[in-house]
Amino acid sequence: MTASLIDGKAFAEGLRHRIAEHVSRLNAEHGITPGLAVVIVGSDPASQVYVSNKSKQTVEVGMASFKHELPEDTSEADLLALVRQLNADPAVHGILVQMPVPKHIDPDKVIETIDPAKDVDCFTPANVGKVQIGLPGPVSCTPLGCLMLLRDRLGSLSGLNAVIVGRSNLVGKPMAQLLLRENCTVTVAHSRTRDLPALLRQADIVVAAVGRPEMIRGDWIKPGATVIDVGINRIPAPERGEGKTRLVGDVAFAEAAEVAGAITPVPGGVGPMTIACLLANTVTTASLING
Ligand code: GUN
Repeated sequence: MTASLIDGKAFAEGLRHRIAEHVSRLNAEHGITPGLAVVIVGSDPASQVYVSNKSKQTVEVGMASFKHELPEDTSEADLLALVRQLNADPAVHGILVQMPVPKHIDPDKVIETIDPAKDVDCFTPANVGKVQIGLPGPVSCTPLGCLMLLRDRLGSLSGLNAVIVGRSNLVGKPMAQLLLRENCTVTVAHSRTRDLPALLRQADIVVAAVGRPEMIRGDWIKPGATVIDVGINRIPAPERGEGKTRLVGDVAFAEAAEVAGAITPVPGGVGPMTIACLLANTVTTASLING
């Protein structure tokens, strides 16, 4: 392996320390304890693990955590009523409704009901627009985490060719906006892109966010490029025993690590950054709400 590893787990730990210092300053100087409300509807096991991790880390950095666990058959009206109650609660500076919500609830209605001032996911149209024109406010958590890792590794990103693979509202599109703000030349590739390998061979920065295990091969990577792998895919691992699985990214890691200059592992790369950035966004909204 020639690439250096980008250790997102260690970076996220350092970021949480800096957030904890910021929280204690907000508390000492302004009497504010940032509060994050997390709402989960139903009992999807993966969502429950995410929500527990979010609540645990919120408390660890000195913020207040408000966890609302609602049954699967909660009506849309009841969920929207809870969101409105949290909008009005002065102890709550950030609101996150864990997605996906059950099928009988319209996720767009939920997002539209969240007060943009407390939208720590950066899902509301108002905050998406603010990111686009560079106004202060929360920034989509996973793209923000990717950007922090890139800046830490490369310093200035100005003039670099960045290719983002995937055009989701959650990752691809906001990532493109953030990299444009860094003066990268940005290309967003997707399932209809012609000759993706040729496009990627021009990329100084690759951000892979397609959700297809090990789709991006080593010989598609430009020598020395920085590769950020957002994918988290569980695949069968019969070599570990019957019925066993393992996590892989969207990039064929072993191959790409022979060519790239730096690369994020899966797990331990981008994943740990997402919750840390959620906490950072809660500090941002608490500071903005309190002027
Ligand atoms: N489900 C999976 N990831 C996320 C996220 O970042 N935010 C919310 N609200 N739900 C999710």
